[in-house]
Amino acid sequence: MEVLRGREDGKGIATSFNVAYVALALKDCMFGKNIIFKERLGSTNVFLKRLAQEGAAEGTVLIADEQTDGLGRMGRRWFSKRGENLLFSVLLRPMLSPKNVFILTMIFALAGTDALKEVSGLDAGIKWPNDIYLGQKKLGGVLTEFSVLKGSVQYLVLGMGLNINWKPKAEETSGYETSSVFVETGERVSREELLGNLLGKLTVYYQGIEDRRERELLCKRWNEKSVILGKPVIIETGKERISGKAVEIDQDGALRIVTAEGAERKILCGDVSVKVNFSEQR
Ligand code: BTN
Repeated sequence: MEVLRGREDGKGIATSFNVAYVALALKDCMFGKNIIFKERLGSTNVFLKRLAQEGAAEGTVLIADEQTDGLGRMGRRWFSKRGENLLFSVLLRPMLSPKNVFILTMIFALAGTDALKEVSGLDAGIKWPNDIYLGQKKLGGVLTEFSVLKGSVQYLVLGMGLNINWKPKAEETSGYETSSVFVETGERVSREELLGNLLGKLTVYYQGIEDRRERELLCKRWNEKSVILGKPVIIETGKERISGKAVEIDQDGALRIVTAEGAERKILCGDVSVKVNFSEQR
C-alpha cells in the first residue's frame, strides 16, 4: 500500500488529517491500495485525471485538506474551508459504455448518504443527479468526469465535496442553501471515519453493479434516498427546458419524468440543472 502526503509542490507539511487511519480502515478493499493526501491543491478531480492519464491504478484515492480551485458541476466553483470538510476523488476504470457511467454517480452519492447516516446519524438524501441534501439544504456534491477511448470508458474520476465541520457563510456557497454535519448535529465528526466508511460502502456497491439482482437492489436504494421523486421539477439541459414531475431514477441512473402534457421523458444525467419545488408533496 502506498500512502503519500504533502502539497502539490512536493513539500510535506503537518496536517490534522489522519490519512493512516483511512488507510488502515481500507486495508482490505480496492480503495486502500493507493491513497494520496495533499495538504493543498487546485482540484482533486483535475489532479487525479492527470494521474489517470499517466496510468494510475483503479482505486486510487486523492484527498485534499484544501482546494484553491475546487470545481462544481456546470462551471460552478466548490468552496470549502481548510481542514474542515471532505474533499476527495477516486479513480475507477470500469468496463462500461459511456451511457452507463451515471450508475457510478448514483452509487457514489448513495455511499455518501449511507456513510453520513452511520457516522453522524443524519438522514441525508440524493437530489438527482449529483447532490447530497438534508431537507432543502445542500450538504455535498459529486462531480463525475470521464475519458472515452474507442467508445469505451478509459477512466472515470468521481469527486465529492462534503460539508462536515464548517459553518458555511452565504458568500461561500454557489447560490443554494448550504449546511454541514456540524451545523445540523452540533457535533464534530471524524472526517477519516466518514471517508473510510463511505469508501467501504462504495467498494461493495461497485462490485454489485455487474450483478442483475444487486443492481436492482441498488436502484431501489437510490430511489428510496431520492428527495425529488413525486415533486415538480424543471430540467435545463442546455438545449431545452423540461417541466414535469419526477417519477423514478432507473437502473441506468437516468431520471424519468412525466411532463404536464402527460408525456414520459427519460433524462440521462450529465450537464443538466434541476430545480425542485420541495414544498409540493408526492
Ligand atoms: C457540485 O455540487 O456541483 C459538485 C461538487 C463537487 C466538489 C468536489 S470537491 C472534491 C472534487 N474536486 C473538485 O474540484 N470537485 C470535487
